[in-house]
Amino acid sequence: MAAIEVVDLSMTYGDLRAVDAVSLEVAEGEFVGILGPNGAGKTTLLEMVEGLREPDSGRATVLGMPVWPRNAGLLPRIGVQLQASAFFERLTAREQLHTFAALYAVPVREADDWLERVGLVEKADTRVEDLSGGQAQRLSIACALVHDPELVFLDEPTAALDPQARRNLWDLLSGLNDSGRTVVLTTHYMDEAEVLCDRVAIMDAGAILRFDTPDALIRGLDAPTRILLADGEVLTTRDPAQEIARLADEHRLDGIRVQTGTLEDVFLDLTGREYRA
Ligand SMILES: Nc1ncnc2c1ncn2[C@@H]1O[C@H](COP(=O)(O)OP(=O)(O)OP(=O)(O)O)[C@@H](O)[C@H]1O
Ligand SMILES: [Mg+2]
Repeated sequence: MAAIEVVDLSMTYGDLRAVDAVSLEVAEGEFVGILGPNGAGKTTLLEMVEGLREPDSGRATVLGMPVWPRNAGLLPRIGVQLQASAFFERLTAREQLHTFAALYAVPVREADDWLERVGLVEKADTRVEDLSGGQAQRLSIACALVHDPELVFLDEPTAALDPQARRNLWDLLSGLNDSGRTVVLTTHYMDEAEVLCDRVAIMDAGAILRFDTPDALIRGLDAPTRILLADGEVLTTRDPAQEIARLADEHRLDGIRVQTGTLEDVFLDLTGREYRA
């Protein structure tokens, strides 16, 4: 059974078609990334799939159940981290987490483990208003995951995180996925998508332009290889083997770096370089 099935899902704000007849399927246990410029429609799409926003048309099914009208039976089985995190005011980080845990009858001890997992043990008694941006982000992730959902939605979970926290969250999410959880996230970090995701959807102007493995997307780009020489010279070639052999003959191999196409190249190729609104 598919974890997520979306058919012709659309959402219009005034005359703006934020999500334009999107269809996609995510298999159980898959790790999927949604990439797209600002305003592409990622958050709107996710919120409809999560059952938080009523679509204008189309339908979404999650874990075999329709998400709209709101389906209370789904709530314990999915975890949702929103792009703008909302907390109960004046609670400490620990109280916040305990409140979420209580909603799903998760024992306090298990909830406390999450403080450790997201590196907030030292901030357990700090009020949510006094957490830094990245700390608040990590708390909202812990709150989304505390009831051990089968399917996890995360909207730019690493946006405010420092490099350490980002790597730690990668490990955490990979671990969840390895133990069979389905994960869907949005991100603006191409390296993150490449490392974590089984498949990546590239979205722009409300539509999904491609949905494939990072490898297949990069291969489809047919980008030339760049060879960066120690003296700063950059060679661009479609026959890297021949070029490297030539450099070897000339004893110029020391310190070279070879760059093949990246997911970022794919992204820019598909979505262009213009600013979005
Ligand atoms: N409630 C709303 N009312 C009117 N327009 C909206 C509303 N929510 C979103 N939009 C518009 O819909 C489009 C898609 O927004 P959305 O938040 O889904 O984009 P996104 O891909 O998540 O962008 P980002 O990368 O910046 O988070 C944008 O042009 C946005 O201005
Ligand atoms: Mg968004």
